[in-house]
Formats: sequence, structure tokens, C-alpha cells
Amino acid sequence: MAVKKLTEETRGSILCLVGPPGTGKTSIGKSIARSMGRKFVRASLGGVRDEAEIRGHRRTYIGSMPGIIIKQLRQVGVRNPVMMLDEIDKLSNSNLGDPSAALLEALDPEQNSNFIDHYLDVPFDLSKIMFILTANYPEYIPEPLLDRMEIIEFPSYITREKVAIAKNYITKRQIIQNGLTPKDIKFTEKAIEFIVENFTREAGVRKLEQRIEKICRKVAVIKAKGGKTNFSIDIAKVKEYLGNKFLTPEMANRKNEIGICTGLAWSPAGGSILFIEATLMKGSDKVKITGRLGEVMRESAEIAISYMKSNAGKLGINLKNFEKYDLHIHVPDGATPKDGPSAGLAITTAIISLFTKIPIKKEVAMTGEISLHGKAMEIGGLKEKIIAALKAGIKTVIIPKDNLKDLEDIPKEVLSALDIKPVKHINEVLAIALTNKNRGLKKV
Ligand SMILES: Nc1ncnc2c1ncn2[C@@H]1O[C@H](COP(=O)(O)OP(=O)(O)O)[C@@H](O)[C@H]1O
Ligand SMILES: [Mg+2]
Repeated sequence: MAVKKLTEETRGSILCLVGPPGTGKTSIGKSIARSMGRKFVRASLGGVRDEAEIRGHRRTYIGSMPGIIIKQLRQVGVRNPVMMLDEIDKLSNSNLGDPSAALLEALDPEQNSNFIDHYLDVPFDLSKIMFILTANYPEYIPEPLLDRMEIIEFPSYITREKVAIAKNYITKRQIIQNGLTPKDIKFTEKAIEFIVENFTREAGVRKLEQRIEKICRKVAVIKAKGGKTNFSIDIAKVKEYLGNKFLTPEMANRKNEIGICTGLAWSPAGGSILFIEATLMKGSDKVKITGRLGEVMRESAEIAISYMKSNAGKLGINLKNFEKYDLHIHVPDGATPKDGPSAGLAITTAIISLFTKIPIKKEVAMTGEISLHGKAMEIGGLKEKIIAALKAGIKTVIIPKDNLKDLEDIPKEVLSALDIKPVKHINEVLAIALTNKNRGLKKV
């Protein structure tokens, strides 16, 4: 914004805000527009799969329309708005041309000063528009677009941040929107925290806002009926208005168990813990993997098995009757699709625990990819995962050493409540995660 002010040009990078829903991406876009004194427009690219939706149709077609960008310009009536294009990661491809190529042409400051929309059929200068894109999953952004964009990450909020946002913004806005005044209703900080912890499970603050709105509405009913309103919303009142249906917190394992390992997962909705279960049964040397695991995660399971077999001697595992058994690996919450390599260490630990019959400590969770030689490799989404571990009652979190740099972004209060163990190799993981009754594992 400083450069734009000094040079009065919009040329430069295209911003892309990446983060879970409700973390303030759209709000920031609006703020940028306001502070630059420009108009703001917004369109969604979700489901756009036809090149013509970007570039427009020729007017000879029946029902022809201009492309999405020209349409938005027509709507705001100025040629230099801040234009937010949401869900760039949900752009898809079809046999009707590649919309990402057309989009690139429209966004790229090198070529968009004479963009041709087929509907207009004359070059139109898009270079005065400030484009801001948003996405949930950075992995799904088309590569050529990614190259030209400046990515700004919007990580999920921790409880303290949510409470501050609710106190300073959300409650004030909801009080006014529901026809109340600050005299009618006040929220105590404890009550807001209680709502965050028991009635929402999200990265952003959308559900939190809905809950607060619900409370405001109930007070509005009383006020509209002419009743006395001078409420201070505390925990008891929250329970009265929102009911007793708390979300059950994800619980860490309750006892040390053989073949069950706690992993950490990341999704656009934030971090969560997951359990990896391994079990053996009579059979014929087959491996079964369930829980809607994606291809990458299945491969992690194969790597884990190969590692265990090739190091069986060192691990004190007897493979003599192996072919008489089947191995089954399952990741519960079977309806939710899961993927990614970051459960590698956890799957390996579960399998080794199963074969050595040594239980895994219940208070330990881990994240990390594993190589065929047992090396712990870097993963993404560490902040969310660690916050989720703490919430679930985990005490020790094992992370790949290469992820140490990411700890910088994690709030001190979270880190000080956990014992973070950076590791380079699965051997170190086993030494930390397995209970001490060392039957077998001599070398570890
Ligand atoms: N840091 C923040 N400060 C104040 N309000 C916030 C913040 N983050 C999110 N919000 C509020 O949360 C709601 C959802 O934000 P939004 O910008 O729509 O998120 P996104 O576009 O990332 O999904 C908005 O009402 C916004 O005001
Ligand atoms: Mg948004």
C-alpha cells in the first residue's frame, strides 16, 4: 500500500490470502479498499471451469455474457476497485478450456493492460484494479498462478485471540445489529471463553459470532416484550441461552495401549488429533487399510510396514510366522477423508508397538513424514497441529527437527504447556513414545 501511495500505480504483485474460513481474509480486503479510498467488489471462482466465464462469450452467442471481471467492473462502476476473487483453489478444469490460463492473463500486471473480453471485443485496461485472491488450500492453487502471487498466510486463531476479537468487535457489532444497546447486555470475558471452548470448534470466528448472535436475539426478545434488560452474560447465562449440548472435546487416549498411536492432522478447519490403530489377525500375509485414507497416506502405511520388516532384527521383532497373519491399519472417524504424508511416524510407531507388544504412552502425540530409512521429515500446518494437541490434553509432541523453525509462530503460552521433542529418526520417536517396559527393543 505504501508503494502504491508513493508511485500512484497499481502495478506490482497480486496478493493471495490463504487460510481457513472465518479468519478475516474478506474483512482485510475490505479494509484495504477503505484505507485506499477505493471501492471493493468480490466474486467467487468456486466452480468456474469454463474459460468463457473469465474471458466472456462472443456476442453472437445467444445468452452471451461478459466474463466475471468485466461483470464485476460494470457492477461497481469504476475501473480501479479492489477486486477480491475468492476460492482460487476451487477453480477447476474442463473440456471448455483452462480458466486458470485466462485468469493469469487477466491478473498478470505484465499483460493485463490490454485484456480482451470476447463480449467487449476491444482491449480493456485491467491494470488499475488491485486484485486480491483468497484460498483455503494453497496446494490446490494452479502452479502458474502461484508463481506470480504473493502468498500471505492467515493462520487459525487460538482461544485468547478469539476472546479478544469477540470482546472488541463481534459482541459490539451483534449488540447493535440486534437492536440492543451496550446498556442492555454485557459479555464477561469468562463467558466468551466458555463459548469458544464449549460451543465452537473452528479455526476462525464464524460459529462464535453465530453463538453470540443467538444470545443477543434472546435478550432482544425480552426487550421487545418490554421486559427489563440489564444483562451481564456470564457462564450460567450462556448455559441458559445456548443449552447444555456442549461439543465433546477430542479426548486423548485414556490408557497406554499397544498398536494405537496419536497423530496430528491439519485441515482448513484447523488442527485435530487422530488415532492410528494397527491390529493383527489370522490370515495370509495381507494388509488391509481403512478409514478413507488417500493415496499418499496409504503409501505412508506401506513405508511403515517396509521399515518395520527391514529392521525387524534390530527392533527385536520375530517375523517367522508373519505370513500366517493379516495386518489391519485403521484411522477412525472413518467418514472423513484423510490424506497427506504427515502421519508416517505415527503409523510406523503403531505398527512397531503392535509387533513388539510394547504399549504407546497415552500423553504423546506426533507428526512427521517418514522415509524408507526411518528419517523424520518436515511437514506443514505445525501451528494448528500443536494447538490441537494441547486442547486434546496431550503432554508431549514429537515433531521433525526440520520443523523447529516453525515453532517461532506458535504462541508462548502454548509452547510452555507442552513438551516439544524434535527428532531426526524414528528410533528417537520410539524411545520417547513407547512405555519403558523394554521387551525386545534393545537398540532403541
Ligand atoms: N482479526 C479479526 N478482528 C476482527 N474481526 C475479525 C477478525 N478475524 C475475523 N473477524 C470477523 O470474523 C468474520 C469472518 O471473517 P471473514 O473476513 O469473512 O473471514 P474469511 O474471509 O477469512 O472467511 C467477520 O465478521 C470478521 O469481522
Ligand atoms: Mg471470505
